[in-house]
Amino acid sequence: MKKQIKIEEKIKKFEKVIQVSGDKSISIRCILLASQAIGKSKIYNLLESDDVINALKSIKKLGINYKKFKNYYEINGYGLSGYDTKKKIKIDAGNSGTLARLIMGLLIDSKKKVTILGDKSLSSRDFSRVTEPLKRFGANIISQKKKLPVEIKGSEFLRPIQYEEKIGSAQCKSAVMLAALKTPGTTKIRAKKSRNHTELLFKEIGIPIKVLSNSNHDYIELRGLTNFKSFDYIVPGDISSCAFFIVLTLLGNKSKLRIKNININSSRTGIIKILNKMNAKIKYLNKRKYKGEQIADILIESKKNLIGINCPKNLNSSAIDEFLVIFLVAAKAKGISVFKNLGELNQKESPRLNIAVNFLKKIGIKVKRKNDDIKIYGKPNLVLDGNYLIKNFRKDHRVLMMSCVAALTFGGKWKISDSDSINSSFPKFFHIINKLGANIN
Ligand code: S3P
Repeated sequence: MKKQIKIEEKIKKFEKVIQVSGDKSISIRCILLASQAIGKSKIYNLLESDDVINALKSIKKLGINYKKFKNYYEINGYGLSGYDTKKKIKIDAGNSGTLARLIMGLLIDSKKKVTILGDKSLSSRDFSRVTEPLKRFGANIISQKKKLPVEIKGSEFLRPIQYEEKIGSAQCKSAVMLAALKTPGTTKIRAKKSRNHTELLFKEIGIPIKVLSNSNHDYIELRGLTNFKSFDYIVPGDISSCAFFIVLTLLGNKSKLRIKNININSSRTGIIKILNKMNAKIKYLNKRKYKGEQIADILIESKKNLIGINCPKNLNSSAIDEFLVIFLVAAKAKGISVFKNLGELNQKESPRLNIAVNFLKKIGIKVKRKNDDIKIYGKPNLVLDGNYLIKNFRKDHRVLMMSCVAALTFGGKWKISDSDSINSSFPKFFHIINKLGANIN
């Protein structure tokens, strides 16, 4: 079994201030946009994880240089036609769906064939959700059984499209937005609500974009082929990394945690809204705006009297990466929690809905599942003392972190495999959790 960790003790009381790493979604978007800007962009607090390093390696393969300085990365772009695609290229996106899907959008004008590859987990995921709209721009795209590898050979005769994004996937919406950037004319998108970092960055760096929104959809109009200048950006902390510490504190023993400089864009804060409905009382401090994004410190305390939730479906997209840990809170809350329409969880790095149901059953929690809906029967007095072996078979970084939080708050003796999966999104996770008093190595 690969890189197994052991956890045999619950975390003790702590009172600390921490900082988590930079936001993964924003880090990858900054790299891709800087690679198409004119001039040198400086990106501060870039997340240094495998998914993001793979984004840097990918732009390098396309002829774009970057340099690491003490506290920023400098990326030197040559404008929208600056990628060198005169020879065949292979790009390895590793574990990152965001990188694989978004970069495809920027390759719809490639001169020669570019092949996008990924690791075992990424190669099992559906890519037709992006290749289908991208083909409509006029690019030649080939994939076997809707999976990676995907081959893209661009076209000189691209045309704008009207696209309806029905899943609520920011990756699909953003891939089409990046393709629109390379296409003459105006592309129009009607997208089910999802994280809007691409829209905010486009506005910030002067790309002509119009966005109209109602509570369920965003309507985006984007005029392509407008070159834009390099930019500086300080990446805020990632709420998806923060989520594991929020739940660790909430389910911990009389602990208190302040997590600094977190992106609290409302398209990402589903976890806070859900946990506060469950009686968590999480607070924001020092709220401020930065380049269209909202930033704040997050303050959280342990709570005993958590209550179950009938989770509103309109919060699904803004909590999509956080459900695994939210389910742990439901396991400890009084009453039954109901979560509906969570089929998208099975489209992630591993089939997370299936995995969560098995996990909860394994620790003695009653779960009823009907298609994509689940009911979790909470046990406020849940205390574990058995042995638990978690085989993280798809090397899912979030399954790993969720298992650690369960082990540190519910008790029992745990062995968790494939701990190196942490490198996808949060290499500093173990360092920070040990600073709070855990003893994981
Ligand atoms: C992401 C969007 C979400 C999320 C993923 C990152 C992004 O995926 O799960 O971790 O950066 O756009 P979908 O767009 O497929 O929902």
